[in-house]
Amino acid sequence: MSAIVIVGAQWGDEGKGKATDILGAHADFVVKPNGGNNAGHTVVVGGEKYELKLLPAGILSENATPVLGNGVVINLQALVEEIDGLEARGANASRLRISGNAHIVAPYHQVLDRVQERFLGKRAIGTTGRGIGPAYADKVSRVGIRVQDLFDESILRQKVESALEVKNQILVKLYNRKAIDPEETVEYLLSFADRLRPMVIESERVLGEALDRGETVLLEGGQATMLDVDHGTYPFVTSSNPSAGGACVGSGIGPTRVSHVLGIVKAYTTRVGAGPFPTELFDEWGEHLQKVGGEFGVNTGRPRRCGWYDSVIARYAARVNGFTDLFLTKLDVLTGIGEIPICVAYDVDGERHEEMPLTQSEFHHATPIYETMPAWDEDISGCRTFEELPGRAQDYLRRLEELSGCRISYVGVGPGRDDTIALHDIAAEN
Ligand code: GDP
Ligand code: IMO
Ligand code: MG
Repeated sequence: MSAIVIVGAQWGDEGKGKATDILGAHADFVVKPNGGNNAGHTVVVGGEKYELKLLPAGILSENATPVLGNGVVINLQALVEEIDGLEARGANASRLRISGNAHIVAPYHQVLDRVQERFLGKRAIGTTGRGIGPAYADKVSRVGIRVQDLFDESILRQKVESALEVKNQILVKLYNRKAIDPEETVEYLLSFADRLRPMVIESERVLGEALDRGETVLLEGGQATMLDVDHGTYPFVTSSNPSAGGACVGSGIGPTRVSHVLGIVKAYTTRVGAGPFPTELFDEWGEHLQKVGGEFGVNTGRPRRCGWYDSVIARYAARVNGFTDLFLTKLDVLTGIGEIPICVAYDVDGERHEEMPLTQSEFHHATPIYETMPAWDEDISGCRTFEELPGRAQDYLRRLEELSGCRISYVGVGPGRDDTIALHDIAAEN
């Protein structure tokens, strides 16, 4: 038994929540290694829909212990609201554990996120406005506040005062905003300390010991490869490392403990926020995918930009993450569309690129080169085996495997937990 990593292969919202829910049934721990309440992971169980923003979707798995890893940034208010909301619906959040090394998204991070975006104007990233970037910036600048700081009032006060000393200058002098009172911030943060204390653990030790005992640890990545601060479409990215290596760092699990890296990929592509997107559609097909796929952001409600499947990105993500398997979601959305275009390469200023081009400017100029495959008309939502799928859907899946260089182990044919075809059971292999 070992660790399994779930990673978004595109620009997010591929269906990581659903994949976590399925594999979480066999896991002892489900860990969120990166991101914060900028995520939105949907799980549909027995017709009931849950939308997790900060907590791992594994909180809904009956036997697994959910953990917020050291790589996560935590908005304390959002945390308690999400716990209370789930408990009000009958879910049991009492098993939740939190790394003492995780960073806190303080109210001033949210203020800074919003003013910075406004300041950028046309160059804005289109962030979720949740303070994620400023919180990670403070972490790397070594002026962040960690969960463990809540339990030492004098350290907390020193850190908040020192962080706000510089930030208040920026807020007042550059952005023309009011200064933030350090003492009010300290009191606000301390008001969560008692509630959090019983949940806080040394997660590296707890997870390491679980693996030593032969237990299964599922790492539920937030965001996605193309939003990775190192490997994504920088600067139009989030501020963490959602790729597989980041999952190890963000949970304190060594790479040798990972047996499977499962890339979650939609049968088409979507993106929320600004940034390049070569296969984006501006015609009625874009509207069709948005409507049939229900492509509206869980977190901010923004409509998702939609486009065809991009196998250049899928190949790139497979390489960067070392995917062992793919979970292809939303195949049902392509039913009855006549022909399905698949982007197999880019044309960049007249040159064919089969792989991600070197520079940001080249990627901005990339136009997709498509091949097309015939779509199927049969309703596939009831299919539970590969053989039950229409031949054309089988051909489409085989072609995507070929193009992405990775086997497809799961196929989603609807939003529900059971609307899934398992070709390879990686939980059993683990
Ligand atoms: P995540 O952020 O990667 O967890 O994905 P989101 O939850 O933000 O978005 C995925 C959406 O697709 C959710 O509304 C899911 O319920 C839905 N979904 C997941 N898999 C499938 C599938 O195979 N078919 C359909 N039709 N919907 C799916
Ligand atoms: P899940 O886990 C889709 C995008 C934002 C913005 C950029 C930076 O549900 O797939 P941030 O607030 O993180 O600084 O915003 O990243 N973004 C996401 N897009 N799904 C997500 O999460 C996202 N998390 C961040 O829209 O473009
Ligand atoms: Mg999402």
